[in-house]
Amino acid sequence: MGPRRRLLLLLLLTVCVPASQGLRCMQCDSNQKCLVKECALGQDLCRTTMLHEWEDDHELEVVVRDCTHYEKTNRTMSYRVNSKIISLAETVCATDVCNRPRPGVRGLALSRGRYLECVSCSSLDQSCERGREHILQCRYPEELCVEVVTLGNSERSSKDANYTRGCGSLPGCPGTGGFHSNHAFHFLKCCNHSNCNGGPVLDLQDLPPNGFQCYSCEGNSTHGCSSKETSLIDCRGPMNKCLEATGLDVLANRSYTVRGCTSASWCQGSHVADAFLLARLNISCCDGSGCNDPRSSGPGPGPAYLSLIGSLLLTFGLWGVLPWN
Ligand SMILES: *[C@@H]1O[C@H](CO)[C@@H](O)[C@H](O)[C@H]1NC(C)=O
Ligand SMILES: *[C@@H]1O[C@H](CO)[C@@H](O)[C@H](O)[C@H]1NC(C)=O
Ligand SMILES: *[C@@H]1O[C@H](CO)[C@@H](O)[C@H](O)[C@H]1NC(C)=O
Ligand SMILES: *[C@@H]1O[C@H](CO)[C@@H](O)[C@H](O)[C@H]1NC(C)=O
Ligand SMILES: *[C@@H]1O[C@H](CO)[C@@H](O)[C@H](O)[C@H]1NC(C)=O
Ligand SMILES: *[C@@H]1O[C@H](CO)[C@@H](O)[C@H](O)[C@H]1NC(C)=O
Repeated sequence: MGPRRRLLLLLLLTVCVPASQGLRCMQCDSNQKCLVKECALGQDLCRTTMLHEWEDDHELEVVVRDCTHYEKTNRTMSYRVNSKIISLAETVCATDVCNRPRPGVRGLALSRGRYLECVSCSSLDQSCERGREHILQCRYPEELCVEVVTLGNSERSSKDANYTRGCGSLPGCPGTGGFHSNHAFHFLKCCNHSNCNGGPVLDLQDLPPNGFQCYSCEGNSTHGCSSKETSLIDCRGPMNKCLEATGLDVLANRSYTVRGCTSASWCQGSHVADAFLLARLNISCCDGSGCNDPRSSGPGPGPAYLSLIGSLLLTFGLWGVLPWN
């Protein structure tokens, strides 16, 4: 099963979660077939996700509406792939059916360069890897220049886009942060001056060790995170906390654990759920080398403890789901 099929299946599975008394949202698929849906427990927001694609004079717009988990925030991102400009925007709201379509509210037009100008490239056309960078005019005033790295060698990562650069307003902006283990490297840089996101693609090895060490593994107690497969790694760059996250791998219907080095921003958001496609995520972070030792009783639910029931339609995952990609 390819990553797109998996993501579609994931969507279907999340749709089938039994409903409880709670928020009601519009649920519309990409064909604009809509119904009112009662959201599952933990899904406390309604979302509207819009994708625009421009190529020459051709414009395509797709809107998807659904329930989403409480960690979601408004976000946008735009980038170039070949001669296309792709723009994603997601807004969330918290009252019944607040994400209903509003007649007359049209999508955005291409901006005329009043806002920040950023470097753009994408692994989808290998332009980041080949150093073929383009310039992109941001189309929302709050957007910054962003660099997103999503490198993982497992089936769990949404790996359609190893590198993406463009304009964005994302959780974690402004600033730099991410997560790394033996198996994965996820990183976000957001900066606020013209073309500040250029240069060679970021490799984990480019970041200097920061003196901390954390246990690293990905899997369950017998496959991936057994004591043989769990090792201490040197943490790099801003990733100076140890993370342990356990969530539900919805496809396999079983528990899945991730350990590694993280920046503080990854202890508090839905980044891990997004990056590793996990639901009902329990995250804990701790300070001090080796503090995420699986043999100890674990870091325990500290202030950074979170339990998410993740909506698995991620902004980035969407890139792989939508049919024309
Ligand atoms: C998110 O976007 C919606 C629609 O533009 C807006 O009404 C809402 O205030 C925004 N929420 C936040 C937290 O910015
Ligand atoms: C992403 O990187 C992996 C190896 O890290 C590579 O196999 C894959 O082809 C890359 N994907 C893209 C879209 O560049
Ligand atoms: C970016 O910087 C400019 C100038 O310093 C400032 O006016 C603007 O508000 C900043 N934008 C964001 C989103 O921080
Ligand atoms: C761990 O995952 C593997 C598949 O990757 C599975 O065969 C095994 O039963 C799982 N072990 C536990 C303890 O859940
Ligand atoms: C997350 O932690 C809660 C409370 O400790 C526990 O009930 C739940 O089963 C955990 N979820 C997973 C997926 O491990
Ligand atoms: C997932 O597994 C649990 C027990 O581990 C079981 O009760 C539940 O029915 C399973 N769900 C699906 C969709 O297979």
